[in-house]
Amino acid sequence: MLITRQKVLRRFWYATEKLENLKDGPKPFTLLGEKLVLFIDGSGEPAALMDRCCHRTAKLSKGWCDKGLIVCGYHGWSYDRTGQLIDIPQFSPEQVVPRLGVKSYRCKPRYGYAWVCLDEPLADIPEVPEDSDPSFRRIMQFHDDWETSAFRLMENSFDNAHFAFVHRSTFGQIDQPIPEKYEIRETDYGFEAETIVTIANPPQAHRVTGSKEPTTRRHMRNKWFMPFARRLDIEYPSGLRHIIINSATPVDDGRIKLAQILYRNDDEASCSTEELIAWDQVIVEEDRDILESTDPDATMDMARKVESHMPSDRPGMIMRKRLLKLLRDHGEDEISEAVPAVSWPFVPTIVRH
Ligand code: FES
Ligand code: CO
Repeated sequence: MLITRQKVLRRFWYATEKLENLKDGPKPFTLLGEKLVLFIDGSGEPAALMDRCCHRTAKLSKGWCDKGLIVCGYHGWSYDRTGQLIDIPQFSPEQVVPRLGVKSYRCKPRYGYAWVCLDEPLADIPEVPEDSDPSFRRIMQFHDDWETSAFRLMENSFDNAHFAFVHRSTFGQIDQPIPEKYEIRETDYGFEAETIVTIANPPQAHRVTGSKEPTTRRHMRNKWFMPFARRLDIEYPSGLRHIIINSATPVDDGRIKLAQILYRNDDEASCSTEELIAWDQVIVEEDRDILESTDPDATMDMARKVESHMPSDRPGMIMRKRLLKLLRDHGEDEISEAVPAVSWPFVPTIVRH
């Protein structure tokens, strides 16, 4: 699936820029191949416009904000959050500003991010009840550029078979390659997948997991929100919760902005923000290293047999099935440039020396 070519994916919300980063002026952001400018309007809300001035096409993200308007840095034309042209500074007061403008997009603040939807939304931004629960703290963990596709990141988020290998230096157990099964319940927004896994618990993880045992258990309640958001609720035996919210925001077909927000029901004294970022940073870098080596164009159509599968790939197979249905329900075919790497069933050639 070439993500930018499937129009229905424009009808979902994605976390783009951190609200904190918009305070000092407009910022560019590419979403599904579309070049946007994000800024804070006069009421303090984030806004998203096409990053192209209607005068001489300069990027509005090169400009600045003034009284809630975005000002083009080339000749100073200014626009409001709807994209309407409000002022042409070269005009005398009696000259009427023509009804011109640039395209605007839906943009909402949520969980410390500006969320953007490029077309009529098919679903709301995933709910995170912990965000308004005083027993939880919010940690803005990562906002990173990855050279992979949003689908690969999502699939990996529900893949229990990679822990023993990709995470063998952190929480994976290389001598325990048989993964726990997920119990999966499909929902209207995607699915819920639940499992209990035993993980390695090295000393540097003790304050993160709340345990000093050599191994500990994770009760994982993992939810997939179509197409590219997920919520992973990890509960440790002590009752400690480590809830990760991800938006694998598609920049284009082979790049994402990975937004990761963490909620914890403990305090800074038990485990500091820096410790939590440092521990999860090592883990996400392990994922990044392998995911950036995969082909970003994963086919949704299992009948094409471009990839081969095993039983623990089931969550990823359900994602493929659901995404393919989403495309078909909206009159789209899957657009893919994936080239078969193996013929299947694969008959190995035995070379004898
Ligand atoms: Fe923006 Fe001229 S290009 S004001
Ligand atoms: Co991983």
